[in-house]
Amino acid sequence: MSERWIRVAAHGDVPEGGTLAVDAAGEPVCLFNLAGRIHATHEYCTHEEASLADGYIEGECIECPLHQAQFHIPTGQVRAPPATDDLRVFAVKVEGGEIFVDVGGG
Ligand code: FES
Repeated sequence: MSERWIRVAAHGDVPEGGTLAVDAAGEPVCLFNLAGRIHATHEYCTHEEASLADGYIEGECIECPLHQAQFHIPTGQVRAPPATDDLRVFAVKVEGGEIFVDVGGG
């Protein structure tokens, strides 16, 4: 289990209730700010290639902008079709106002 923390943004870059698409060493990642807490998932919907950064946050879920599948942001679980596969989630840490994600050891 190797950690690979990559700095992707400043905390202030992700407004509360908002999203930000970032590149973490080639991995497309979407950041979410839920009540001040940052979460990170894979950027793209598991149904087709829509960016979830363009979706709509409802509570702890993100609704895909293309066909309205919903995913639970903290766990990546599918909550509404047409997507059937869960979303990958990444560990996040915030240090000194900077956001880091762990995209795994590759
Ligand atoms: S691309 Fe997201 S639901 Fe179809």
